[in-house]
Amino acid sequence: MRKDTPINAQVVDQKIKELNLASVGRASIREIRRLIDMIEKETGDRFVRMEMGIPGLPASDIAIEAEVKALRNGVASMYPDIDGIPELKEEISRFVKNFLDIDVDPKGCLPTVGSMQGGFASFITMARLYEGRDTTLFIDPGFPVHKQQHKVLGQKYEAFDVYNYRGDKLREKLESYFKQGNIHSVLYSNPNNPTWINFTEKELQIIGELAEKYNVVIVEDLAYFAMDFRKNYSQPGVPPFQPTVAQYTDNYILLISSSKAFSYAGQRVGMMVVSNKLFTTTAPDLKRYYTTDNVGHALIFGTLYALSAGTSHSPQYALAALLKSVNNGEYNFVEVVKEYGKKASIMKDIFVKNGFRIVYDKDEDQPIADGFYFTISYPGFTGEQLIEELIYYGISAISLSITGSERTEGLRACVSLVGRDQFPDLNYRVEKFHEHHPVNE
Ligand SMILES: Cc1ncc(COP(=O)(O)O)c(C=O)c1O
Repeated sequence: MRKDTPINAQVVDQKIKELNLASVGRASIREIRRLIDMIEKETGDRFVRMEMGIPGLPASDIAIEAEVKALRNGVASMYPDIDGIPELKEEISRFVKNFLDIDVDPKGCLPTVGSMQGGFASFITMARLYEGRDTTLFIDPGFPVHKQQHKVLGQKYEAFDVYNYRGDKLREKLESYFKQGNIHSVLYSNPNNPTWINFTEKELQIIGELAEKYNVVIVEDLAYFAMDFRKNYSQPGVPPFQPTVAQYTDNYILLISSSKAFSYAGQRVGMMVVSNKLFTTTAPDLKRYYTTDNVGHALIFGTLYALSAGTSHSPQYALAALLKSVNNGEYNFVEVVKEYGKKASIMKDIFVKNGFRIVYDKDEDQPIADGFYFTISYPGFTGEQLIEELIYYGISAISLSITGSERTEGLRACVSLVGRDQFPDLNYRVEKFHEHHPVNE
């Protein structure tokens, strides 16, 4: 018989049965979402929902106004250029100069249908550069959809969990893959979804040096741009800058999402920034698939054309206006999203003081930052068991095991949808969980 759990245990059991779930711990994010919707409806209790990684802040008026204006001006009836409207390309180039301190020609600054499409286009194109180089390497944990993209393309990938390979250890590990000769590109996100680790300068330097040595392209996913709040990356043209591998190699593609940093997820507009060197590289093997052997040309007129013939017209104006005001120092986008970090700090404390542990807790010797996600575990529980049990306490999250993490005890918690008004409930529920599951230390 269950103890007095914060959520009525009979209702939870009954809804699990109704959904016919063999295991709640192994259910997909969408199934968990459905289960919780049903329990919330029946009990009237609101869950602390940490399963979905979606932005929880309103979009900026600057973007919305510019988009409405563009629509009124008639852009909806016209095809946009595949490689983007000129004013957006200029602002992206200014943005990467101002916030990453790198020089990229506007030609290589491309809007994409979310940074998700930027990843897809990179994988398709990079896998066709050199015959025999047919495999992507993921530095995991990572965003599961990127692997899904490989599966639907029928492309090969390898992956390793970086947990045991931080700092100098990363060199040998990466080199062991690069030496095989089949890796065309490497993908990682920084800050990292799901763990919120951030690579140190030393680690980025190792990645960059090896990219040069082995001619491997680094696809750096900056979906959470400038959101390592331990440092202030918010001032255009002023250090410190968002760390990037682009300081250490010319062989890169950067994927910059507008979904989280600019709360513009719904309009599906992202940025793909291709280094000057890669953009102008000639690779004869490309001719197997494209009419050209030039990387930039193949990417735009081959891949992006085939995928969606460019990015929706009006969101490009929204992003251009937003970037312009950010570049001019008029709009501080980092200040707006700092709320995620502040909430994470409070939520992590609630878990840690009740016996939970932060799984990925360090960047080399530094404690990790507070941001969009954090990872937790509880002694004696696998991740799957923990998800299942926490449902009875009105808390939801996802298992790290679907992200390529080897830490099967861990869960990913996302702070974005949890309101501050829920903190007292969260505290009470986590305390109850701790009380019902004493830890023998
Ligand atoms: C690591 C990572 N990459 C890419 C994306 C997708 O971004 P977009 O909405 O720009 O397609 C996300 C969104 O959650 C993400 O977490």
